Amino acid sequence: MRVAASRGRATSFSPFDNARRDDMIKPHGSDTLNPLYVAEEAAREQLMQEAHELPAITVSSAAAANAVMLGAGYFNPLTGFMSKADALSVGENLRTADGLFWPVPVVNVVDNIESIKGAARIALRDPNVDGNPVIAVQDVEGIDEFSEDELNTLVEQIFATGDDEHPGVATFKSLGRYVVHGPIQVLNFSYFEDDFPDTFRTAQSIRDEFAERGWEKVVAFQTRNPMHRAHEELCKMAMEATGADGILVHMLLGKLKPGDIPANVRDAAIRKMVDVYFPENSVMITGYGFDMLYAGPREAVLHAVFRQNAGCSYLIVGRDHAGVGDFYGPFDAQTIFEERVPDDALDIEIFAADHTAFSKKLGKVVMMRDVPDHTKDDFVLLSGTKVREMLGNGIAPPEEFSRPEVAEILMEYYQSK
Ligand code: ADX
Repeated sequence: MRVAASRGRATSFSPFDNARRDDMIKPHGSDTLNPLYVAEEAAREQLMQEAHELPAITVSSAAAANAVMLGAGYFNPLTGFMSKADALSVGENLRTADGLFWPVPVVNVVDNIESIKGAARIALRDPNVDGNPVIAVQDVEGIDEFSEDELNTLVEQIFATGDDEHPGVATFKSLGRYVVHGPIQVLNFSYFEDDFPDTFRTAQSIRDEFAERGWEKVVAFQTRNPMHRAHEELCKMAMEATGADGILVHMLLGKLKPGDIPANVRDAAIRKMVDVYFPENSVMITGYGFDMLYAGPREAVLHAVFRQNAGCSYLIVGRDHAGVGDFYGPFDAQTIFEERVPDDALDIEIFAADHTAFSKKLGKVVMMRDVPDHTKDDFVLLSGTKVREMLGNGIAPPEEFSRPEVAEILMEYYQSK
């Protein structure tokens, strides 16, 4: 895949093709979006009644999050959970056994199948909501088992490491060995609707709002953090370079590793920042219900797939996108698009951003590639640890790093801990 505005290129050059400003981008793999949520109320109630009679299993948080993504249309055109053959094929080739381009296995892996043995249809219970209500009904096409070798190879392929210190690896390895595969019908969106009523959105509802606003080309900004100055400027730069009609701030609302900032705090900080520092009606603040994988490059490609499904034409991929610790090179999540994503695999384009920070020389936030012959000292750079320490002590980071309104919300959070 061609990666636009890649590192080293001048930002004044706009490599994006805006000549064809026709309809909104098509979903991945089909002409229309096919969310697996049962939208019709009577059908949903009937299915819920049936579900209470079915053999049931409480799934992992990862599988419940997959169900939410499938239900919301983000994982179009998948119709349910993948088989072992599909998962291994995705791990190896970024394609299902049938050849559909897909970067990360979407699986329902469990460690015990006693309660569903021999069943053709089962209820999936949500581990994240009190009482474990049914989240979906699954037709069981089969139950496969990963061998230890297969599981280890798959983990290496997805995460580029098998190290248990990696939070995504540790979670994936803890799920079990049994792969319960087959189509699903989704009955609710877990805790996301209740906990984030203004922010949680389905892919279809985002597409609908783009159409209402008359937005044809939209830049998606993935985030699991509050937005600091670098994040803010990246959005503004991407909007200018692509000539997009608007920005979709699309934050992860699901589970994170310890130490990451909870979604409600992030949400408040982002809303405040957009309110004060972005032109009116240029940004939609939204979120999706998925647990962070921290899979760096592979997760970046998954991010692109589901932003295309949400109707976005561009995805910002900056430094260490979806990374954790030192497991990935700072721009591995960009190079994967050139190396492993064929030109015809996706329609969404990547806005590849260089390391962005406040330049003391230029007096503004810029991408480092735009400041020739710079040294690190020319920039206001703060580590995540340093920022957390400052906020915890009630000290606002410099305004070159974080907007004061954002810092205030974060200080309140850290001091209340
Ligand atoms: S992520 O795990 O969701 O990717 P984060 O919310 O911090 O983490 O980043 C959101 C997006 O902004 C990612 O594309 C990331 O690469 C990019 N990004 C964050 N900080 C910077 C920075 N200082 N310079 C360039 N890109 C950045």
